[in-house]
Amino acid sequence: MQVEHEKFMVWKAQYSVGVQLIDEQHKELVKMTNILYEDCAKYGKDIAYASFKVTIKAAVEYVTKHFATEEQIMERIAYPDFAKHKAEHQEFVKQVLADIKKFEEGRAFVPNTFVHFLHDWILSHIAMTDKALGKYLVAMHLAQKSAGGAVGGTTGGAASGAASGAVGGAGGGNQPASH
Ligand SMILES: [Fe+2]
Repeated sequence: MQVEHEKFMVWKAQYSVGVQLIDEQHKELVKMTNILYEDCAKYGKDIAYASFKVTIKAAVEYVTKHFATEEQIMERIAYPDFAKHKAEHQEFVKQVLADIKKFEEGRAFVPNTFVHFLHDWILSHIAMTDKALGKYLVAMHLAQKSAGGAVGGTTGGAASGAASGAVGGAGGGNQPASH
């Protein structure tokens, strides 16, 4: 196959949700999906199968960590759509775990379909759900900045602090598992 070196998913500036920490984690998800896609092209061979198995495990761990990051931020700022957003994460994890079970049991698992599912879910979740969260965080951050020290309320102050921390966060301590 001559398309092996073409990237399946390419990160684009338009995917940014405006929050560095979340963007960095999304970029890792894109990278992992690409690795799985590359393994797919060679699927059926023992090495590709082994690689797929390792990457899929690392991807699940990373996704879990990434969702936890977003959910902690949402909880801290009392994000209005927290429950809905979290439910989307849970539904995705459920689907992925069901697919992995099929993969491990060697039944009705089509790697190519699985990787396309990851691709489509990641892009649509970022475009709709994560972007809405990013927009909210950036707005909170800006409101806090323009209010200066005037946001003196206890909960308001704490929430704004969480928002600006998330928006300005450098993403330390969230390195993905190495492949
Ligand atoms: Fe999300």
